[in-house]
Amino acid sequence: MTGSSTAGTSGAAWKHLESLPHATLGALFADDKRVEALTRRIVWPVEPGADAETGMLIDFSKTHLSEDLLDGFEALAEAAGFAAARTALFGGGIVNPTEGRAATHGALRGSGTAAQVDEAEALLARMGMLVEAIHEGALGEVKHCIAIGIGGSALGPALAIDALTRDLALVDVHVVSNIDGLALEAAFRACDPAATLIAVASKTFTTIETMTNAASALKWLAENGVEDPHGQVVALTAAPAKAVEWGVDETRILPFPESVGGRYSLFSSIGFPVALAIGMDEFRAMLAGAKAVDDHFRHTEGRANAALLAAFADQYYTRLRGCQTRAVFAYDERLKLLPDYLQQLEMESNGKSVTADGRPAEGPTAPITWGGVGTDAQHAVFQLLHQGTHLIPVDFIASIAPGDDLDPAHHRILLMNCLAQGAALMAGKASDDPARAYPGDRPSTTFLVEDCDAAALGALIAFHEHRTFANAVLMGINPFDQFGVELGKAIAKQIESGEGDFDASTRALMAAAGLG
Ligand code: F6P
Repeated sequence: MTGSSTAGTSGAAWKHLESLPHATLGALFADDKRVEALTRRIVWPVEPGADAETGMLIDFSKTHLSEDLLDGFEALAEAAGFAAARTALFGGGIVNPTEGRAATHGALRGSGTAAQVDEAEALLARMGMLVEAIHEGALGEVKHCIAIGIGGSALGPALAIDALTRDLALVDVHVVSNIDGLALEAAFRACDPAATLIAVASKTFTTIETMTNAASALKWLAENGVEDPHGQVVALTAAPAKAVEWGVDETRILPFPESVGGRYSLFSSIGFPVALAIGMDEFRAMLAGAKAVDDHFRHTEGRANAALLAAFADQYYTRLRGCQTRAVFAYDERLKLLPDYLQQLEMESNGKSVTADGRPAEGPTAPITWGGVGTDAQHAVFQLLHQGTHLIPVDFIASIAPGDDLDPAHHRILLMNCLAQGAALMAGKASDDPARAYPGDRPSTTFLVEDCDAAALGALIAFHEHRTFANAVLMGINPFDQFGVELGKAIAKQIESGEGDFDASTRALMAAAGLG
């Protein structure tokens, strides 16, 4: 994201950061203003046009960021050209230099140039018309939708549908990504072919897993009495001509701009299955939550900017403390797919070894994002967080309002556990028995949304998009390309054709697996 002109000054800023002492959390908490100073709130109206506000709180106080470190990271952000990079992001500048593209996911929720926002609004209106027409029966009875896509064309829809349709789904949506036919077969078993829409989601409309699954879905419709299988297909793509070629009627192709990256595409027509399941009003509520975070990110400077502050903490742990992973635990069943979503967002964006201008990255880049759902994870992997030899910064994400209608004890116990884990990681506990001692001084950040609704989900997603971008700027790398995924795809094609210079191990495995 930054040119070589800023590399030298970033280097000096890093040198200064590396020279700073590391205080323990206990010592940092001697400052009784710490919690206030390191808690951020992002708010949005409870509903469009309402005065009353809701939102999310993010408590960074249990990270090791000291005043000196924050000053140092603000200097790094300046040296790395953060403000200019952010202006370029929302101004349609070429922030993806290796592919010569802008990154216009912000415009999908109204944050971008007037022309991009108008284009996005027109595409959204078109999607809304199709969603509403389907709800009104224009394509006959649609009870089910099999949404076929992979990576960024599946993870966001799967997360949003799982999170937001616990009470009611207007259409029963099954997101299928894996090429393993078992995944598609499971969806077939749950759907009535005559009342099933097939949504093919692919930015490129060439991805082998998606196109193979889509072909099998059409075959399934045909074999089960549907006379015009193509009549039940909707395509969500940045390559509409390819969808036409594949046989999708133009009226059922919902395009999105090339400048919207796969892992940043949930708010584009890739979100169509979500809108089908939750309705356009709720889909727009998700956009509004994201827009509130965009506004905060665009117009807040330095440490006051929550996503930039999160990136300061990320950089601190990865580069200055050598942490190789970061963990995310959703203390809400509705967010159980969030860690999967964040894995792609963060690891595909920032898992790079070179800077935006092609030089070797100077320090470690993205850590490994992993996680799970609380409280399950507490009874499975938290042992290592509390007593293992790795230092792992943890994010806890919870909703103040419950999602269930059972005894309030359920939600109270959930929240108590969430807060207890952060407190325990930080405080630790001395013991004469080494096996029973907790070192403590282990960092966490806690996110509390008022309610885990569509707006909050939109806000959480936009927050992490901007956190990822801010990290990329601080490291000087391009978060919007993903060439690392191409080599494996090319070799898979060679294995298919049998024409390749394979190593002895791969040759033996091919023979054992009956390939080639
Ligand atoms: O192989 C990785 C990738 O290109 C991701 O970046 C992308 O989200 C996914 O494949 C799916 O791509 P498409 O939407 O073009 O099918």
